[in-house]
Amino acid sequence: MKELFSLDMKDYDPDGKVFSRPSARAIVFKNDKVLLVYSKKYNYYKFPGGGIENGEKPEDALIREIREETGYQIIAESIEEYGKVPRKQKDTYDENCIFEQENFYFFCDVDDAKLNTQLDDYEAEEGFTPVWVDAMTASRHNKYEYHEEGVDLVMVNRDAKVLDMVDLEIRKRERTKREKESIAALGNLDYQGMLDYVENCLQEQSEYSHSGKSDISYSRFDHTKRVLGWAKRLYDMSENKDELRYEDLIIATIFHDVGRTAAVKSGEPHAKAGIPFTRSYLLEHGFDEARTEYICELVGSHSDKHRMNEDNLDPNLLMLMEADLMDDMGALGIVMDCMITQSRNPDAVFSDCLDHIMRFTKRIQMDNPMTTENAKKLWDEKTRIVCEFTDALKKDIEI
Ligand SMILES: [Fe+2]
Ligand SMILES: [Fe+2]
Repeated sequence: MKELFSLDMKDYDPDGKVFSRPSARAIVFKNDKVLLVYSKKYNYYKFPGGGIENGEKPEDALIREIREETGYQIIAESIEEYGKVPRKQKDTYDENCIFEQENFYFFCDVDDAKLNTQLDDYEAEEGFTPVWVDAMTASRHNKYEYHEEGVDLVMVNRDAKVLDMVDLEIRKRERTKREKESIAALGNLDYQGMLDYVENCLQEQSEYSHSGKSDISYSRFDHTKRVLGWAKRLYDMSENKDELRYEDLIIATIFHDVGRTAAVKSGEPHAKAGIPFTRSYLLEHGFDEARTEYICELVGSHSDKHRMNEDNLDPNLLMLMEADLMDDMGALGIVMDCMITQSRNPDAVFSDCLDHIMRFTKRIQMDNPMTTENAKKLWDEKTRIVCEFTDALKKDIEI
């Protein structure tokens, strides 16, 4: 199990006898709340769980302890390792001994039904109460609230730190889940397979610097996924769906920047560099030649943004171009400008960020490059956010 962090109080005699007591602790999330045990006596929260008995499997100890401390039954199949926190300190009961505790944390789910708790003497004495609580509220409580005299502060702070990590982990998992769902919602073709291929082709990109964005950690693959989101949105909004080729538009969007890495190496334009990658994937995956060439044409032309005002421009190409331009703007543009400001000048202050936003995102937003009505509307919405934000920021930092 991976180590989350370790606690070594270094307050013990290194030659002392070691007393070991591994523990299993449960991380249970439901409706944005985490299941914790609150100590009425000492005023702190802890993850439910406790000591693993001799010869007992950690998972069995977990099920037993959670049943006793919270009244909830863990669903055995849901148990998943998260990480461990080893702890080493002087034994409270025998100062010549070292107390070593490996704390194993597991994600798991519980049944809805709650039975009565079965607390042992010390737990009942502490007034252990199972509660569903917001992770950050509990973490702040453990860090900053007054805890009664005699509390085990190492344990209180340990669980606060694990709560912070778990809160981030949950957000990350939810993002991944939402992303999977939206890719599945694109349709029946193997879009995930295409994305995996593009991600692989782009992998080496970070080694090559080729634009202002490379000052910061900018993922071309993340850009591709965001553009995909905009293409889907624009398609869903369109009143002229019969003149669009949905699947081809989505595929071309996935592949539009696939040539970025190769282009940096070869020096040719990235849109053109993407054509052979797109062609070989599609032909290998059973797409016929005419369709393959059409999608390659979209990929190879997506950079020609000067053509957006051309009469009779292919509506699929236009939608791809509009989706592509939509990324890195609005709220995202603001965040990116702040990151670039900081990366170019570590001494940058807030007003430097404002200056950067005014010179880049705000200026670009003000002159709307979109041509279709729906894209213009979406762009105007992003512009409104940028204007409101910069006005508010000026008020916040100017005297
Ligand atoms: Fe591009
Ligand atoms: Fe792009």
